[in-house]
Amino acid sequence: MNRILITGGAGFLGSHLCEYFVGRGSDVICVDNFFSGSKDNIRHLLSHPHFELMRHDIIHPLFVEVDQIYHLACPASPIYYQTNPIKTVKTNVMGTINMLGLAKRIKARILLASTSEVYGDAQVHPQSESYWGYVNPIGPRSCYDEGKRVAETLMMDYHRQNNIDIKIVRIFNTYGPRMAVSDGRVVSNFIVQALKSEPLTLYGDGTQTRSFCYVSDLISGLVKMMETEDFIGPVNLGNPDEFSIIELAKKIISLTGSSSGITHESLPQDDPVRRCPDISLAKEKLDWHPQTALEDGLHETISYFQEVLGVSSREKP
Ligand SMILES: NC(=O)c1ccc[n+]([C@@H]2O[C@H](COP(=O)([O-])OP(=O)(O)OC[C@H]3O[C@@H](n4cnc5c(N)ncnc54)[C@H](O)[C@@H]3O)[C@@H](O)[C@H]2O)c1
Repeated sequence: MNRILITGGAGFLGSHLCEYFVGRGSDVICVDNFFSGSKDNIRHLLSHPHFELMRHDIIHPLFVEVDQIYHLACPASPIYYQTNPIKTVKTNVMGTINMLGLAKRIKARILLASTSEVYGDAQVHPQSESYWGYVNPIGPRSCYDEGKRVAETLMMDYHRQNNIDIKIVRIFNTYGPRMAVSDGRVVSNFIVQALKSEPLTLYGDGTQTRSFCYVSDLISGLVKMMETEDFIGPVNLGNPDEFSIIELAKKIISLTGSSSGITHESLPQDDPVRRCPDISLAKEKLDWHPQTALEDGLHETISYFQEVLGVSSREKP
């Protein structure tokens, strides 16, 4: 089992997964259309003999021979997925059908990177996998939320109808090096603003909560899920430690030693108020739980953005 296809491999999470498998001596095929990802994320792998990059849009069929498919292709940040919402739906629906068709043809195991967004503006807290969600089907986020819900449906239907070997993972907010500078996700936004000494933009009053999982923890969860037998999911992967957005902003200002203040803007439509995973199932089935403390993960992420932005450290001694 050492030939791995990673769709969305030039994105934030995909690039870490590529790196992980190349490091383990697997043959990695990275497929990406560079819509929200970048060659810079995988540049260090390009000359590696076990790494192959294919520029390809997964809404078109793909034929390659692999043992496992990590299906991550889909823009994850609202700025990107709302740029062309029809394309986002196509990526989730046609792209997932194409990857499942491939899995069927070559008898590969396939893992879908789904999302906590399938829970929508959750009415139960924390969210466990048995909760069916509270999702607006016609709002500006629906292309992503409902797109992923259909992707999960397709996974289950191919499994039931064609006996495809599937895994479904619902990823909660993950952060770390190689998040795009301008993709508008809260951690990258705050760090970039703090490093540029600009005010941190806080939507709403900042009491809405999120949980933040460091990328290396998430990657280990994805791999554990792929390697597990007799459990198809869906399973939540995320960090259950809950922080309010204002707490996060203050932490980042302190860790960067920034002089930035905070500005308030109105909350985007359908923005969930609370978001926190119940990871009991991941603990039980995968023996997985996140290990990286928020401050440690932020430290790594801040160093990355300092390098990308070319700003020197202003951290307090
Ligand atoms: N990062 C998170 O916090 C998070 C949370 C929940 C779910 N996820 C899921 O994990 C996956 C990866 O997320 P990410 O944070 O790395 O996002 P990302 O936007 O950095 O990466 C997605 C990658 O997919 C590529 N892509 C998009 N559409 C494509 C298409 N039609 N054909 C080929 N490639 C395409 C993009 O160019 C990009 O490289 C996504 O499916 C996302 O929904 C991520």
